[in-house]
Amino acid sequence: MKIGITNLKGGVGKSMISQNLAVCFAHMGYKVCIVDTDETRATEKWSALREDGLPGILVVGVLESENLSKTIQSLGKDYEIVIIDGTPNLSEMVTRIIMVSDVLLIPIRPGASDFRTMTEFYGRYKQAEAFREHIPAYFVLNEYNDALNIHKGIRDVLQAQYGDIPILETTIKNRVAYGETSAQGIGVYEYADDKAKVEMVSLTNEVLGVAEQVGLVKQ
Ligand SMILES: Nc1ncnc2c1ncn2[C@@H]1O[C@H](COP(=O)(O)OP(=O)(O)OP(=O)(O)O)[C@@H](O)[C@H]1O
Ligand SMILES: [Mg+2]
Repeated sequence: MKIGITNLKGGVGKSMISQNLAVCFAHMGYKVCIVDTDETRATEKWSALREDGLPGILVVGVLESENLSKTIQSLGKDYEIVIIDGTPNLSEMVTRIIMVSDVLLIPIRPGASDFRTMTEFYGRYKQAEAFREHIPAYFVLNEYNDALNIHKGIRDVLQAQYGDIPILETTIKNRVAYGETSAQGIGVYEYADDKAKVEMVSLTNEVLGVAEQVGLVKQ
């Protein structure tokens, strides 16, 4: 299964979610790797920090969009789950990620939502759907605070504008754990913050549930 984590907006949690999902999948026993398409190579650097004793997570950097499909295909032979950590650049890479993914996750930060870039992204998504069958895509609310009306309101806005992209039930709060773990080469599953861990396991299970629905994995 190929999971593309993408959004044209920078700093919304693409790399954080890629890394944390990979860690959860690895601990569940799945063979998982990540393709890092961002020029900053944040996820490649993160992986290099992982210590012996933790499940190793292969991260392959792909910066040329024309190499993406071939790399994903060959990784798909050895890995059950290939996660693609997207780039915020409005580049050909974004279209390629949409085209090669079985499931797309689109992180949204309600406090920093940017509907101009989202509309651009949505345009790419709809274009890609003209070449393929329906591509299952889901919004993931990151740094979400349900005590804030403006955050709660984002659900209606997203559904009104992009009604064919459902919002996953699991939301991710703003937590120190996410910054700390990304600097240490670990995921929150491997860190002492039970609330963060519960949240990420819930997201992982929800993604597996979605994948099962579309026939990509058997649970
Ligand atoms: N839920 C969260 N709570 C606290 N910090 C977070 C959370 N999500 C992301 N961050 C932090 O916000 C910053 C941006 O996140 P991240 O790098 O995952 O975004 P990105 O979408 O990959 O950005 P880019 O587009 O630049 O690649 C990072 O420092 C990350 O640790
Ligand atoms: Mg990133």
